[in-house]
Amino acid sequence: MVINAPSLANLSLVEFGQRLQELKDSGVSFFHIDLMDGHYVPNLCLPPRTVRDVKALCPDAVAEVHLMVDDPMSYLDELQKNGAGWVSFHLDSTRFVRRTLDAIRQRGMKAGVVINPSQPVEAVLPVLPWLDYVVFMAVEPGFAGQRFLDGSMERLEALCALRRSSGIDFQIVLDGGVTYETGTRAARLGVDVLVTGIYVTFEQPDGISGAVKRFNAHFRNQS
Ligand code: DX5
Ligand code: ZN
Repeated sequence: MVINAPSLANLSLVEFGQRLQELKDSGVSFFHIDLMDGHYVPNLCLPPRTVRDVKALCPDAVAEVHLMVDDPMSYLDELQKNGAGWVSFHLDSTRFVRRTLDAIRQRGMKAGVVINPSQPVEAVLPVLPWLDYVVFMAVEPGFAGQRFLDGSMERLEALCALRRSSGIDFQIVLDGGVTYETGTRAARLGVDVLVTGIYVTFEQPDGISGAVKRFNAHFRNQS
Protein backbone atom coordinates (compact mmCIF):
# COMPACT_ATOMS: atom_id res chain seq x y z
CA MET A 1 0.00 0.00 0.00
CA VAL A 2 1.11 3.55 -0.73
CA ILE A 3 2.73 5.25 2.30
CA ASN A 4 1.09 8.27 3.93
CA ALA A 5 3.75 10.89 4.68
CA PRO A 6 2.12 13.85 6.44
CA SER A 7 3.99 17.07 5.74
CA LEU A 8 4.82 18.64 9.08
CA ALA A 9 5.18 22.10 7.50
CA ASN A 10 1.40 22.21 7.64
CA LEU A 11 1.40 22.30 11.45
CA SER A 12 1.25 25.44 13.51
CA LEU A 13 4.29 25.61 15.78
CA VAL A 14 2.01 26.34 18.71
CA GLU A 15 0.30 22.95 18.33
CA PHE A 16 3.24 21.03 16.93
CA GLY A 17 3.84 18.55 19.77
CA GLN A 18 0.17 17.80 20.33
CA ARG A 19 -0.49 17.17 16.62
CA LEU A 20 2.62 15.05 16.27
CA GLN A 21 1.39 12.89 19.16
CA GLU A 22 -1.98 12.52 17.41
CA LEU A 23 -0.26 11.45 14.20
CA LYS A 24 1.77 8.91 16.13
CA ASP A 25 -1.27 7.58 17.99
CA SER A 26 -3.04 7.20 14.64
CA GLY A 27 -0.28 4.89 13.49
CA VAL A 28 1.64 7.24 11.18
CA SER A 29 5.21 6.05 10.92
CA PHE A 30 6.59 8.16 8.08
CA PHE A 31 6.98 11.95 8.32
CA HIS A 32 7.82 14.43 5.57
CA ILE A 33 9.93 17.22 7.05
CA ASP A 34 10.48 20.33 4.90
CA LEU A 35 13.61 22.36 5.58
CA MET A 36 13.75 25.78 3.91
CA ASP A 37 16.60 28.28 4.20
CA GLY A 38 14.98 31.45 2.83
CA HIS A 39 17.42 31.41 -0.13
CA TYR A 40 16.60 28.43 -2.33
CA VAL A 41 12.94 29.21 -1.69
CA PRO A 42 11.50 32.52 -0.44
CA ASN A 43 10.34 31.06 2.86
CA LEU A 44 11.74 29.67 6.09
CA CYS A 45 10.46 26.64 7.88
CA LEU A 46 11.44 23.79 10.15
CA PRO A 47 14.95 23.73 11.55
CA PRO A 48 17.05 20.52 11.42
CA ARG A 49 16.32 19.87 15.09
CA THR A 50 12.73 19.04 14.15
CA VAL A 51 14.15 15.70 13.01
CA ARG A 52 15.50 15.06 16.51
CA ASP A 53 12.18 16.01 18.11
CA VAL A 54 10.24 13.72 15.77
CA LYS A 55 12.62 10.81 16.40
CA ALA A 56 12.47 11.39 20.17
CA LEU A 57 8.69 11.02 20.13
CA CYS A 58 8.53 8.36 17.41
CA PRO A 59 11.82 6.43 17.45
CA ASP A 60 10.60 3.79 14.98
CA ALA A 61 9.25 6.26 12.44
CA VAL A 62 11.02 7.33 9.26
CA ALA A 63 12.05 11.00 9.17
CA GLU A 64 12.09 11.89 5.49
CA VAL A 65 13.76 15.26 5.03
CA HIS A 66 13.08 17.46 2.01
CA LEU A 67 15.86 20.04 1.75
CA MET A 68 14.92 23.27 0.00
CA VAL A 69 18.27 24.93 0.62
CA ASP A 70 21.19 26.36 -1.35
CA ASP A 71 23.87 24.17 0.19
CA PRO A 72 22.46 20.70 0.94
CA MET A 73 25.87 19.21 1.78
CA SER A 74 26.29 21.45 4.83
CA TYR A 75 23.17 19.97 6.51
CA LEU A 76 24.04 16.29 6.23
CA ASP A 77 26.10 15.75 9.39
CA GLU A 78 23.50 17.34 11.58
CA LEU A 79 20.66 15.45 9.91
CA GLN A 80 22.48 12.17 10.39
CA LYS A 81 23.10 12.97 14.05
CA ASN A 82 19.43 13.84 14.51
CA GLY A 83 18.27 10.52 13.08
CA ALA A 84 17.08 11.37 9.55
CA GLY A 85 16.35 8.25 7.51
CA TRP A 86 15.77 9.68 4.05
CA VAL A 87 17.25 12.95 2.72
CA SER A 88 16.48 14.61 -0.60
CA PHE A 89 17.69 17.84 -2.21
CA HIS A 90 16.76 19.73 -5.37
CA LEU A 91 18.67 18.84 -8.54
CA ASP A 92 19.35 22.52 -9.22
CA SER A 93 20.45 23.38 -5.68
CA THR A 94 24.00 22.10 -6.15
CA ARG A 95 26.51 21.64 -8.96
CA PHE A 96 27.57 18.38 -7.33
CA VAL A 97 24.54 16.14 -7.41
CA ARG A 98 26.47 12.87 -7.53
CA ARG A 99 28.78 13.91 -4.70
CA THR A 100 25.85 14.94 -2.53
CA LEU A 101 24.00 11.66 -3.18
CA ASP A 102 27.13 9.73 -2.25
CA ALA A 103 27.58 11.82 0.90
CA ILE A 104 24.02 11.06 2.03
CA ARG A 105 24.46 7.33 1.48
CA GLN A 106 27.85 7.34 3.22
CA ARG A 107 26.07 8.63 6.29
CA GLY A 108 23.71 5.66 6.20
CA MET A 109 20.65 7.54 4.94
CA LYS A 110 18.55 6.96 1.83
CA ALA A 111 19.38 9.52 -0.85
CA GLY A 112 16.91 11.30 -3.11
CA VAL A 113 16.72 14.12 -5.62
CA VAL A 114 13.77 16.47 -6.08
CA ILE A 115 12.46 17.59 -9.46
CA ASN A 116 10.62 20.87 -9.83
CA PRO A 117 7.58 21.45 -12.07
CA SER A 118 9.73 23.23 -14.68
CA GLN A 119 12.34 20.47 -14.99
CA PRO A 120 12.11 17.54 -17.39
CA VAL A 121 11.72 14.25 -15.53
CA GLU A 122 14.59 12.86 -17.64
CA ALA A 123 16.92 15.14 -15.65
CA VAL A 124 17.19 12.35 -13.06
CA LEU A 125 18.53 9.83 -15.60
CA PRO A 126 22.28 10.51 -15.19
CA VAL A 127 22.15 9.90 -11.42
CA LEU A 128 19.66 7.02 -11.18
CA PRO A 129 22.25 4.41 -10.16
CA TRP A 130 23.23 6.49 -7.13
CA LEU A 131 19.89 7.37 -5.62
CA ASP A 132 17.20 5.55 -3.64
CA TYR A 133 14.25 7.77 -4.48
CA VAL A 134 12.95 10.72 -6.46
CA VAL A 135 10.66 13.38 -5.03
CA PHE A 136 8.33 14.69 -7.71
CA MET A 137 7.02 18.20 -7.05
CA ALA A 138 3.49 18.93 -8.26
CA VAL A 139 3.76 22.52 -6.95
CA GLU A 140 6.59 25.03 -6.90
CA PRO A 141 8.51 24.40 -3.68
CA GLY A 142 8.33 26.78 -0.74
CA PHE A 143 4.79 26.82 0.62
CA ALA A 144 2.34 24.29 1.96
CA GLY A 145 -1.26 24.28 0.81
CA GLN A 146 -0.82 25.04 -2.89
CA ARG A 147 -2.84 23.47 -5.70
CA PHE A 148 -1.61 20.55 -7.80
CA LEU A 149 -0.28 22.13 -11.01
CA ASP A 150 -1.78 21.33 -14.43
CA GLY A 151 0.23 18.83 -16.41
CA SER A 152 1.75 17.27 -13.28
CA MET A 153 -0.09 13.95 -13.68
CA GLU A 154 1.25 13.50 -17.21
CA ARG A 155 4.77 14.31 -16.01
CA LEU A 156 4.40 11.89 -13.13
CA GLU A 157 3.26 9.22 -15.57
CA ALA A 158 6.39 9.89 -17.62
CA LEU A 159 8.56 9.47 -14.52
CA CYS A 160 6.90 6.14 -13.71
CA ALA A 161 7.46 5.00 -17.32
CA LEU A 162 11.08 6.10 -17.10
CA ARG A 163 11.48 3.98 -13.94
CA ARG A 164 10.13 0.91 -15.75
CA SER A 165 12.33 1.43 -18.81
CA SER A 166 15.45 2.17 -16.75
CA GLY A 167 15.26 -1.17 -14.96
CA ILE A 168 16.43 0.64 -11.81
CA ASP A 169 14.23 0.21 -8.79
CA PHE A 170 14.02 3.60 -7.08
CA GLN A 171 11.03 4.85 -5.08
CA ILE A 172 8.84 7.77 -6.10
CA VAL A 173 7.48 10.33 -3.62
CA LEU A 174 4.73 12.73 -4.75
CA ASP A 175 4.90 16.10 -2.99
CA GLY A 176 2.51 19.04 -3.26
CA GLY A 177 -1.24 19.47 -3.54
CA VAL A 178 -2.10 15.81 -2.95
CA THR A 179 -5.86 15.25 -2.75
CA TYR A 180 -7.83 11.99 -2.84
CA GLU A 181 -8.24 12.48 -6.57
CA THR A 182 -4.59 13.14 -7.44
CA GLY A 183 -3.34 10.70 -4.81
CA THR A 184 -5.50 7.87 -6.11
CA ARG A 185 -4.33 8.40 -9.67
CA ALA A 186 -0.72 8.58 -8.50
CA ALA A 187 -1.03 5.39 -6.47
CA ARG A 188 -2.39 3.61 -9.55
CA LEU A 189 0.64 4.80 -11.51
CA GLY A 190 2.88 3.15 -8.91
CA VAL A 191 3.92 6.07 -6.71
CA ASP A 192 5.27 4.73 -3.39
CA VAL A 193 4.80 7.67 -1.02
CA LEU A 194 2.15 10.41 -0.93
CA VAL A 195 3.08 13.57 0.97
CA THR A 196 -0.18 14.71 2.49
CA GLY A 197 -1.11 18.17 3.68
CA ILE A 198 -4.25 20.20 4.19
CA TYR A 199 -6.31 18.35 1.59
CA VAL A 200 -5.92 14.91 3.17
CA THR A 201 -4.49 14.87 6.71
CA PHE A 202 -4.71 18.30 8.34
CA GLU A 203 -7.66 20.58 8.96
CA GLN A 204 -10.09 17.75 8.26
CA PRO A 205 -13.55 17.66 9.88
CA ASP A 206 -12.86 14.24 11.43
CA GLY A 207 -9.55 15.37 12.94
CA ILE A 208 -6.12 13.87 12.39
CA SER A 209 -6.93 10.35 13.54
CA GLY A 210 -10.12 10.22 11.45
CA ALA A 211 -8.21 11.50 8.43
CA VAL A 212 -5.43 8.94 8.83
CA LYS A 213 -7.96 6.10 9.17
CA ARG A 214 -9.77 7.27 6.04
CA PHE A 215 -6.50 7.37 4.12
CA ASN A 216 -5.72 3.80 5.17
CA ALA A 217 -9.18 2.50 4.34
CA HIS A 218 -9.20 4.22 0.95
CA PHE A 219 -5.74 3.25 -0.22
CA ARG A 220 -5.89 -0.30 1.14
CA ASN A 221 -8.60 -0.94 -1.45
CA GLN A 222 -6.61 0.65 -4.27
CA SER A 223 -3.77 -1.86 -4.53
C1 DX5 B 1 6.09 22.50 -0.46
C2 DX5 B 1 6.41 21.35 0.42
C3 DX5 B 1 5.36 20.33 0.63
C4 DX5 B 1 4.07 20.80 1.25
C5 DX5 B 1 3.05 19.71 1.05
O1 DX5 B 1 7.23 23.24 -0.64
O2 DX5 B 1 7.53 20.67 -0.13
O3 DX5 B 1 5.88 19.25 1.36
O4 DX5 B 1 4.21 21.10 2.59
O5 DX5 B 1 1.87 20.02 1.68
P1 DX5 B 1 0.58 20.45 0.84
O6 DX5 B 1 0.12 19.21 0.13
O7 DX5 B 1 -0.37 20.94 1.84
O8 DX5 B 1 1.01 21.51 -0.12
ZN1 ZN C 1 8.14 18.82 0.78
